Amino acid sequence: MNTFLTLDYEQETDLPSGFVDDVRTPEAYVRHFLREHSEPGDTVFDPFAGFGTTLAVAAELGRVPAGVEYETDRAEFVRDRLGSEHSESLVHGSALDLADFDLPAFDCCLTSPPYMVAGMGVDPLENYAGESDYGRYLDQIGDVFAQVRDLAAPDASLLVDVSNMKHDGEVTTLAWDVADAVAESFRFEGEVVVGWEGEEQPERDGGSYGYGYDHSYCLVFAAEGGG
Ligand SMILES: C[S@@+](CC[C@H](N)C(=O)[O-])C[C@H]1O[C@@H](n2cnc3c(N)ncnc32)[C@H](O)[C@@H]1O
Repeated sequence: MNTFLTLDYEQETDLPSGFVDDVRTPEAYVRHFLREHSEPGDTVFDPFAGFGTTLAVAAELGRVPAGVEYETDRAEFVRDRLGSEHSESLVHGSALDLADFDLPAFDCCLTSPPYMVAGMGVDPLENYAGESDYGRYLDQIGDVFAQVRDLAAPDASLLVDVSNMKHDGEVTTLAWDVADAVAESFRFEGEVVVGWEGEEQPERDGGSYGYGYDHSYCLVFAAEGGG
């Protein structure tokens, strides 16, 4: 496994009209890691499907997509994006309730959770609507990935796209803390640093994604030996 690579921070499609927050993982990232960690015919899962990048790239590569998304309009968009062949692949609901849904076993899960900055006070797992705190957020992330573990095939991989954050001069070690929460259920195999290149990459300082967003991580986990 290469532990450092550079990719173009390029969204291959425009953010659909009516949406403001571009929380998407660039397709190049998803394509790279799905090629490394899955085979044609494998089921690829994303419990935080967002605008469906993981699921769309999975379908493009001949994998079987499956996912969950909380936001109604994003879920509808994903179903449209996947087309009739995969319209049943997306569940509209909360990843905190994975055990309640009829989801297939997966061979590879590639996901990016909703991010939180310590001290933020709102709940990322309700798309920043309710109240929360950083400790509760990390407990909920641990809870989601414990349920993800129950859906994993024995030799499944889990890949988590996450970054540390800096806001108002304070660093939130989100990548480290998410890694700890996920490692309660999966075996951590290491991180890949993804350096972002190209004109579209978010501002390095003071941008909405803050410090460090000239790079991201892919945290790599295995189901085998986890939990
Ligand atoms: C970082 S974004 C994922 C973006 C995705 N990788 C893409 O490329 O479009 C996280 C997503 O998780 C969703 N989300 C937040 N809370 C959730 C929950 N409880 N269950 C499922 N999805 C949730 C958000 O609505 C958001 O779309």
